[in-house]
Amino acid sequence: MAEGTGPLDRLLDSRVKVLSDVEVNTDEVSIARVYDYFLGGKDNFAVDRAACAAMMEVVPETPLLAQANRCFLRQAVRFLIGEAGIRQIVDIGSGLPTAGNVHEIAQEIDPATHVVYVDNDPIVLAHARALLATDARTTVINADLREPDAIFGHPETARLIDFSQPFAVLLGGVLMHLEDEEDPEGVAADIRGRLPSGGYLLVSNTCDTGEPRARELTRVFAESGMGTRCFRTWEEQIRYFDGLELVEPGLVPHNRWRPGPDFPAPDNPAHAMHIGGVGRKP
Ligand SMILES: C[S@@+](CC[C@H](N)C(=O)[O-])C[C@H]1O[C@@H](n2cnc3c(N)ncnc32)[C@H](O)[C@@H]1O
Repeated sequence: MAEGTGPLDRLLDSRVKVLSDVEVNTDEVSIARVYDYFLGGKDNFAVDRAACAAMMEVVPETPLLAQANRCFLRQAVRFLIGEAGIRQIVDIGSGLPTAGNVHEIAQEIDPATHVVYVDNDPIVLAHARALLATDARTTVINADLREPDAIFGHPETARLIDFSQPFAVLLGGVLMHLEDEEDPEGVAADIRGRLPSGGYLLVSNTCDTGEPRARELTRVFAESGMGTRCFRTWEEQIRYFDGLELVEPGLVPHNRWRPGPDFPAPDNPAHAMHIGGVGRKP
C-alpha cells in the first residue's frame, strides 16, 4: 500500500493547512483517510497509517474487507442504474474519491445520472470538489448522517434530486460509525421514510458473527481516535430494511452479493465480518 506519496503529503508541510478552503489537521486520524489507505489510495498521513497498522495487527484481513465493501458498492450501483432504472443517488458517508467512484460507475451506464456525495469529514469535501469542478450532475456536501434534515434540505441536494421521483440512498460503511445512543435504526427509518415508492436503500456494515476479534478491533478503532466501528448482528441490521423488499440475494457478506469480475480475492472466512444489502420501497 502507498506510503505518503499522495498529493496531500506533498501539499501539507505543516500540521494544519488549508486545502481548497478546508482546514486539514494532519495530526488527527480520519476514517475517510484510513479507508483510503486500505483501498490502496495515497491520500493518507502517518497518523492514519499507524491506525491501519494497529487494526491489521488484530485482523490482518482488514484491507481485503475494505476492498470487498467497495466492490459490493460498485456492483450495487451497477444494479441500481443498469437494472433498477435509478437515475438519482444520495451517497451518505461517501469517503474520499477513489478508483471507481459512484458517479463514475453510474454515469458510465447513464451520463444523465445525478449524484450527491455527503460526508462529515471536511477532507472529503476538499478532494471531491476538485474532482467534480466540471461535473454539473454531481456534487458534494459536508453534512452528518445524524442530521438527515440538513442533508435532504441542503440546496445542493434539492438542486440535483427530484424527491418526487425514485432515488437511491447509499449508506455504505457508515451506520456502523454510530453508537447505539445515536440510534442507527432511527436514522435508517428516517431515511426510508423519505424514499418515494420505487426508491432504494443500500446498507453495508461490519457484522457481529461471534468472531472474537471483532470486539478487539472495535477497541483498537476507538483507541486510535476514530470513534466507534460497531459490529452489529445480522438480526440487528436486517431492521434497517424494515418495510422494504430486499433485492436478491438479500443481506449477505459482500463477496456473495452478485460478485462481479473486479472482486478482489477468493473466498475467505473473514468476509462474514462485513455484510451488505439493497432494499426497494414498494
Ligand atoms: C468506511 S468509509 C465508507 C466509504 C464508502 N461509503 C464506501 O462504502 O466505500 C466511511 C465514511 O463515512 C464517513 N462518516 C462517518 N461518520 C459519518 C457521519 N456521522 N456522517 C457522515 N459521514 C460519516 C467517514 O468520514 C468516511 O468517509
